[in-house]
Amino acid sequence: MNQPETGIARRYLEQTRYRRRAMGEKSLAYPRAPLYKEYPDAAARLSLDPESGRRGADLWQCLAQRRSQRDYLDRPLTQAELAALLWATQGITGAMGGYQFRASPSAGALYPVETYLAVHRVEGVAPGIWHFQVLDFALELVAAGDFRQPLAAAGLSQSFLAEAGAVFIWTGVLNRARWKYRERAVRYLFLDAGHICGNLMLAATALGLGVCPVGAFFDEEVESIVGVDQKTEVALYLASVGPLA
Ligand SMILES: Cc1cc2nc3c(=O)[nH]c(=O)nc-3n(C[C@H](O)[C@H](O)[C@H](O)COP(=O)(O)O)c2cc1C
Repeated sequence: MNQPETGIARRYLEQTRYRRRAMGEKSLAYPRAPLYKEYPDAAARLSLDPESGRRGADLWQCLAQRRSQRDYLDRPLTQAELAALLWATQGITGAMGGYQFRASPSAGALYPVETYLAVHRVEGVAPGIWHFQVLDFALELVAAGDFRQPLAAAGLSQSFLAEAGAVFIWTGVLNRARWKYRERAVRYLFLDAGHICGNLMLAATALGLGVCPVGAFFDEEVESIVGVDQKTEVALYLASVGPLA
């Protein structure tokens, strides 16, 4: 019963603790990854209006009403709703001292989380996998097509991943944070993703939309759907979004 824990989680937490005598693991160094990711050769690009789709709502009511929602209406999401959700999660909301700050906080303002969207049913947006290009507030087409079944399969057959209007897929670019925080950076990647999803859920509640966060998925399958290399960039978290039933 009282045997020391030796699992990988215990070792990770031990070795990435900040202590007064040693600020975590110092032996590994990582190069810096660019702050923004772009797909310059994307087959299609769609600029969105960051100010569209917003509606007034009472924050306290949204906090009280927020629930993980897995049943959605058949109607497509509108482009304006999608724009509002993207802005609430990763929109640029300020600038200071060479940094551009976003709607969600990020350790060291490094923003290592990338947003992909599996678009199933969104007005005026072709079904497929899109990347959100933060600086231009635009979507870049990564792969056109119907990804409902592969995505639900990647999500341990959770069928609402196919029934949603769109699924947010967040990945982490490891070296965007590791050059600074080394192994501890991985804690921050997941914390950043949690903040982003929190914003998504509150914004969706304000718009009368439903979101379900999803942590149960086959990592490799999700990474191959969005086309990231599984080494420098890994899947972190998903969230389905759709009009509330
Ligand atoms: C990190 C995380 C992972 C989750 N993964 C899943 C999931 O894979 N499938 C699912 O149906 N719900 C998932 N959920 C939703 C939880 O089941 C839900 O938040 C919890 O039951 C509390 O309900 P509420 O969000 O409606 O308050 C996840 C939530 C979090 C925060």
